[in-house]
Amino acid sequence: MAEEEIVETELVVLGGGPGGYPAAFAAADRGIKVTLIDEGITPGGVCLYRGCIPSKALLHIAHLINETKEAKAWGVHFGEPEIKLHEIRDYKNQIVSKMTEGISTLCKSRGINLIRGRGRFSSANQIEVVTEDGEKKGVPFTHAIISTGSSPLIPEALDLKDPRVMDSTAALELEDIPERLLIIGAGVIGLEIGNIYSALGSQVTLVEMTAGILPGVDRDLTGPLRRQLASQFQAMHFKTTVKELKAGDSGITVKMEGEDVEPEQIFDRVLIAIGRRPNSKEIGLENIEIEPDEKGFITIDKRQQTSQTHIYAIGDVAGEPMLAHKATAEAKVAACMISGKPAEFDRIAVPSVVYTDPEIAWCGLTETEARKNKQKVNVSRFPWAASGRAQSMSHPDGITKIICDPDTERILGVGIVGSGAGELIAEGVVAVKSSMTARELAECVHPHPTLSETLMESAEAIFGQATHTHRKKKL
Ligand code: NAI
Repeated sequence: MAEEEIVETELVVLGGGPGGYPAAFAAADRGIKVTLIDEGITPGGVCLYRGCIPSKALLHIAHLINETKEAKAWGVHFGEPEIKLHEIRDYKNQIVSKMTEGISTLCKSRGINLIRGRGRFSSANQIEVVTEDGEKKGVPFTHAIISTGSSPLIPEALDLKDPRVMDSTAALELEDIPERLLIIGAGVIGLEIGNIYSALGSQVTLVEMTAGILPGVDRDLTGPLRRQLASQFQAMHFKTTVKELKAGDSGITVKMEGEDVEPEQIFDRVLIAIGRRPNSKEIGLENIEIEPDEKGFITIDKRQQTSQTHIYAIGDVAGEPMLAHKATAEAKVAACMISGKPAEFDRIAVPSVVYTDPEIAWCGLTETEARKNKQKVNVSRFPWAASGRAQSMSHPDGITKIICDPDTERILGVGIVGSGAGELIAEGVVAVKSSMTARELAECVHPHPTLSETLMESAEAIFGQATHTHRKKKL
């Protein structure tokens, strides 16, 4: 039997997604000898291969199709689009390849030792890797970063092992465009993928166990999206749960329980999008005396350190929110710490974006959280109907809101629904993170006509002084 190869390293990073590869890069840039272990052909993780990037490529197409339909109202008439699925898949895959090849090149140019395989801790100072061709490698390390991400959560009762019952990975493969698609879960994944399939021609039915879309998000922000989805989807059933799925020749028979819902329906495909679970099993945590919490997350402190202080955890496996940019920010903290520079992750303004049509984005404190914490806040809402730019783009159904401290006027949170909200929220992040006051934001001259003015006017609205809205003062 061949002897196990030993690859000594200062830092080993287990998992090469948007947490792992930035951690490896940041550490290598600080002169640390890094080994990065990932199963993929190149690093990239769920975000590049099966999540953020492919879904955004497809959402771009969905938005284009929707716009061509809207254009009728502006006197521009397009014909029905001709959908060539294999070309769409090629377009999406090319984008993914460009990005992952770029990451691979950056890895090489930084001198990072990349091992393709599955890694597992055998002790608190060594990881064992089994490569794709069955070869074993031992990687003794001084420091480790666990960035193994998360996987779709599929309850056993719904796991038919039938390709017509899909998770988000399978749905983004775009095998076909089902005539009847059921989406279980009105969270971020359900709504984004619902947008894609409905634009491509599927009749989408949405089932959600709570009372509305995107539980936890401020209701004034979800309103415009819910209205839009009502016109795009075949049906939306809230306070409804799926009890059983059964595979048959004519489709997947679904038994449901809820208000105003036909209890048994047949669909050509079903997407289960009811959350993700951290990948903390099968990585040998029992060998390093780290016990994940009841949801499977690894407990960390503000410095990303686990109970074994030389082992760090970042990204989805280290707790919510499960967002690529949060993972990347945590990666930089861990790399700083390992290079001997104290650092802490400041989670005050981590933005969230739902890339639907319209988009929803928020950062910092939400109104829902303020209410829950009984925290007094001032909230302003600037309606996009009063924005010249939104009107000229025919997207007046948006809102930009600012949540601020009533005494200090400090901006605590920003929420936006509307076209391009995901791009606009960055200004909100800067405002919240830099403790900007509403007056300071109101005094920043914004270019006209742009959607960014809605942030300035929302800040002005805190003082009842927005130019394009008027509220009579109470006497
Ligand atoms: P989610 O937690 O966002 O939403 C799941 C939804 O399913 C919830 O509305 C929940 O009430 C509902 N649900 C749960 N069990 C159900 C049941 N048995 N029947 C009906 N409804 C049920 O989870 P999702 O959408 O799967 O996303 C997973 C993670 O991925 C999230 O943490 C999200 O932040 C992240 N993600 C972020 C994206 C972004 O930033 N744009 C894009 C995609 C994913």
